[in-house]
Amino acid sequence: MIIIPFGKEGYAVPKPALRPAARDRLTEEEFFTERAGVLASWPTGQEADLDEAVAWHRALPEAKAAPPLFRRARQLARPLVYPRTGVASLARHLDDVQQLYQAGAELLCTHADSYTRTRRFEEGQRALEESLRRDVSLLNGVPVVNYGARKMREVAAVTPIANQFRQGTPEGRLASETVYAAGYRSMLGGILGSVPHMRDMPIGECIRNWQYVDRLVGEYESRGVSLHREYYGALMGMVMPPSLMCTCLVLDALLAAQQGVRHLSLGLNNNLHLRQDVAAIKVLDRLVREYLDRYGFTEVEATPVLHMWMGPFPPEPAKAYSLITLGAFTAAYAGAAGVIVKTADEAIGCPSTEANVAATRLTRACVEVAAGQHYPDSAALAAEMDQIEVEARQILEATLRLGDGAIGPAIEEAFAIGYIDIPLAPAKCNAGRAISVRDSDGAVRYLDCGNIPFSDEVKRFNAERVRARATAWHAEASYKLVLHDFSAKAFEAPPLDLEVASSG
Ligand code: 5AD
Repeated sequence: MIIIPFGKEGYAVPKPALRPAARDRLTEEEFFTERAGVLASWPTGQEADLDEAVAWHRALPEAKAAPPLFRRARQLARPLVYPRTGVASLARHLDDVQQLYQAGAELLCTHADSYTRTRRFEEGQRALEESLRRDVSLLNGVPVVNYGARKMREVAAVTPIANQFRQGTPEGRLASETVYAAGYRSMLGGILGSVPHMRDMPIGECIRNWQYVDRLVGEYESRGVSLHREYYGALMGMVMPPSLMCTCLVLDALLAAQQGVRHLSLGLNNNLHLRQDVAAIKVLDRLVREYLDRYGFTEVEATPVLHMWMGPFPPEPAKAYSLITLGAFTAAYAGAAGVIVKTADEAIGCPSTEANVAATRLTRACVEVAAGQHYPDSAALAAEMDQIEVEARQILEATLRLGDGAIGPAIEEAFAIGYIDIPLAPAKCNAGRAISVRDSDGAVRYLDCGNIPFSDEVKRFNAERVRARATAWHAEASYKLVLHDFSAKAFEAPPLDLEVASSG
């Protein structure tokens, strides 16, 4: 039993994972034994035959490969533009994806619906049938497991470039099997990024589930099929501290590489602060390379990508487009390898095809107009990069000393003692003490570091920055500032009277 130091007594971690994180690469026996159970958990699982899937991948044209896309984006220092999309009907989805391709999408994404992400396949089946009967989408994505790998092959067969599947979940094993067997070349989903999507699952089990998925990718790699994996840095829909995102993504990359992943991208959240966002992307690029090399994964390719603002969006199109534009230019000026597109429909729900097409066109136009330009080197940028790097290194070094030298167990322990603590993530495995907030300049700092293993200097720096904002705002350095930050940049100029703002 691990005791989380908190108050006078500390408290005990509720239940250890039944399936804790593996220490190393899963052995062939471990993987294939587990695989039989995964594939048996829904009838379409039987369609994910590895030998046949490998043959299908090999038969697809080279133009549908994903790793070269990210390599080229890095060489050209021009981010790939990729919008999300997904509805219940596969025919409609194919139509949407093709329209997005025409509009300039460079990686064609299929988003999972919520039933798939929570493994409620029976309810998904009913919603799928009802959707097709009524010719509306009652699902917020494509129920890939219900369709099964064979049917899902239509996507890879029909589209001219690589397909990516996106799923924010701590248990995406069967969906991953399905889409990779269907010919998808890339998949988003990962350990630390899953924490905002979890409640009861112990972190060890979440790690173990993704270790399986990455081991599956390693299996394809060892059979000569190059697949791409994407991770996201714990994207709560609010301001996220860059150092924490970088830490999470480096750890995701190490875990993935350990299971045999060779091509990966790491997604940061755009906090809408140009200098700090650029700094975060550059630091992540540097850190992930360093840590992969340190662990001997020198041949693993890793590129940073940027998610446009993940917080609340304004309903007014002009304001939404300003956030989209800022995301596009931030990714371009930082040299990110990709940018994931939001739309003007974000305030109301899943986007219409038209809104998605418009945002994709806009993003393509932005990254092209910015091509060849970089955020200028400056003392302020260097200072921000140093700060993010120092903070991330402190968490990474303290974490990697845990777990008796094994990465997965180290992360498990780091959660238990609050070294890794995702602000406002409701998961029970999360210590829930760290809180992020903007400083007076709009950059993201820690209002409370919780038990994150920062030096006194780092804690002091963050406290001073937050205090400066509170003073300027005639407010306490408290959660009220955080409430304000949820939406402030995206909406009307905020009321300065924080008492009014927080009581509403
Ligand atoms: N179609 C388009 N975008 C989607 N998103 C989620 N599901 C879909 C979908 N089916 C986008 C939304 C959401 C983000 C996590 O992904 O913008 O905020």
